[in-house]
Amino acid sequence: MEPIEDLDVLSEDEVRQREAGAGSDDEDLDRVEHGYEEAAGAKQVYIETYGCQMNVADSGVVASVLEDSGYGLTQDQDEADVVLLNTCAIRENAEQKIRTRLGMLRAEKEKRDGELMMGVLGCMAERLREKLLEQEDLVDVVVGPDAYRDLPRLLYEADSRKPSGQAAVNVELSKQETYEDIQPVRYDSNGVSAYVSIMRGCDNMCTFCVVPFTRGRESSRPVTTILSEVAQLAEEGYKEVTLLGQNVNSYHYTDDDTSVTFAELVDRVSRVSPEMRVRYSTSHPKDCTDALLKVHRDRPNVCNYIHLPVQHGNTEVLDRMRRTYTREEYLALIERGRELCPGVSFSTDIIAGFCGEAEEQHQDTLSLMREVRYDHAYMFKYSERPQTYAARKLEDDVPDDVKQRRLEEIIGLQNRHSKESNEEEIGRIHTVLVEGASKKSDEQLFGRTDTNKGVVFDREDYEQGDYVKVRIEDCTSSTLLGTALEKTTLEEAARTDSITAAPAAA
Ligand code: 5AD
Ligand code: SF4
Repeated sequence: MEPIEDLDVLSEDEVRQREAGAGSDDEDLDRVEHGYEEAAGAKQVYIETYGCQMNVADSGVVASVLEDSGYGLTQDQDEADVVLLNTCAIRENAEQKIRTRLGMLRAEKEKRDGELMMGVLGCMAERLREKLLEQEDLVDVVVGPDAYRDLPRLLYEADSRKPSGQAAVNVELSKQETYEDIQPVRYDSNGVSAYVSIMRGCDNMCTFCVVPFTRGRESSRPVTTILSEVAQLAEEGYKEVTLLGQNVNSYHYTDDDTSVTFAELVDRVSRVSPEMRVRYSTSHPKDCTDALLKVHRDRPNVCNYIHLPVQHGNTEVLDRMRRTYTREEYLALIERGRELCPGVSFSTDIIAGFCGEAEEQHQDTLSLMREVRYDHAYMFKYSERPQTYAARKLEDDVPDDVKQRRLEEIIGLQNRHSKESNEEEIGRIHTVLVEGASKKSDEQLFGRTDTNKGVVFDREDYEQGDYVKVRIEDCTSSTLLGTALEKTTLEEAARTDSITAAPAAA
C-alpha cells in the first residue's frame, strides 16, 4: 500500500478530524437504533491515523459508524472522551511510534482518573490481539480492520465494565466485509481530493510483508457502490478520487450478472465526470495489464501517473521476496507503459537490505533505478515482521549499518533523479489541480500536475479546486515552482494538450 510521504505516521494536520455534533433530524431518522447509543451519550471521539492511505480511508468509515451511533467527532484530544488510534504494523518503527504515543496517552488517562477510553484499531490491533492488552493495560477496545461496524457495541461493553473492566476485542477478519454501504466521513477533506476504498486485503503473500496477516484475504467492493460514491463526490464538488486497495489492480468484482476487472472499473469511474481526475494506489506489476495502460492512454481524466512498486532490482532477490516477476519483466513493463502512454510518470517502493542481499544485488537496485529514472520513490530499510515467510524461513542477515548505508545510497540516487526530472519540467505548462494554500505561505497555492508533481505558485485570484494552467519556472528536488497563466477545465486542457514542451520564456 502506498505510503503517504513517510508511511509511518501522518501529521495531525494531514489527518484533520471533522468536527461534528449529533446529526440533523433527518439523519436521526436514518440512524439504526441498536441500544448502544446509551454508551455514546454526548461522548466525543478523537481518531488519530497512522500509516497508509487505506488507514485514512478506514478512519473515515470508523467516524461514520460512530456518528451513526450517536458519538460526536472532535479534532481536539483534550475534549475527547474516547481516543482511537488507527494503527500500522508494516515495519517495526511504525509500531514503535504507536507504543510511544500510547505511553503519552497513559499519562493523560491517569490525569483523568481512568475516565478517558482508549482504543487500538487497525493492523497493529490485528497483529497483536490480546497480547496488546497484556502489554498495554490502558487499552479498552482492540478492533481489527474488518470489525469496525462492531465498534459501538465494543465501546458499550468496555464502558459497562469500567472502572476495573476487561477490554472488548474483535479482530475477526472477513472475506465479505468491504464496508460497501458506508459513506465515509472525509478526513482528507480539502474538499478537492478524496480516497475511495475499492478492495481490501491481499492474497499476494510477498515474503517480507505482514499485510496479508493483518488485513486478510482480498475482497472487491461491488462496482455500483463505488460508482455511486464517486458520483456523490462529484456532486459535492470534489475534483479528484484515488481508488484505494492494498493491491488495487487485482480488483475483480463478480456477481450473478457482472464481472468487472480493474481496467474496466477505472474506465467506468473516469466516465462519472469529465472534471474528476482519477488516480489509484497501490498497484502490483503482475496486474498492470495492457488493458489498464490503454485506459490511462484513452481516458484524459485518468492521470498519467502509476505507482508501481518494484521492491528490488535483482531477480534472485525478487524471487526470495516472492514478487512473481523478474527484473527484465519489470523493465519491459515500464517500457510498455512509456510506449502506450508517452510522458507517463512512475514512482516506486524499494526495500534495502532484504535477507541474503549481496553487495552486487544491491548494485542491481541502483542500476534498475538508473534505467527507470523514477520521478519519486518511497524507500525503506528491511524490517523483519513476525509471521511472515521471511521471518520464519529466511535469515535477516544484512547488518544494520550495511542496510543503512545501502538505503542512503538509494535515497541519494533518487534525490538526484527527482531533481533532474523536476529540472526537465522547467518551461513546460501543466494543468494543476489546486489543493489549497502552500505550506509556507498563504499567498501561494499548492496543487498537483496530472503526473502527481507538487507545484507552488502565487495565489492571485485562483482558488482551491480550480484547474489552472501553470508554467514551470524553477524547482527543488521535491517541488515545482511556477507562474499561473489561466484557469481552465480538464476537458479544455485535454483538447489543447496539457503539457507543452516549449522552452521557458527568456
Ligand atoms: N520491511 C521494510 N519495508 C516493507 N514494506 C513492506 N513490508 C516491509 C518490511 N517488512 C514496504 C514495501 C511496501 C511498502 C508499503 O512498505 O516497500 O511496498
Ligand atoms: Fe504486502 Fe505484497 Fe500484498 Fe503489497 S502486494 S500488501 S507488499 S503482500
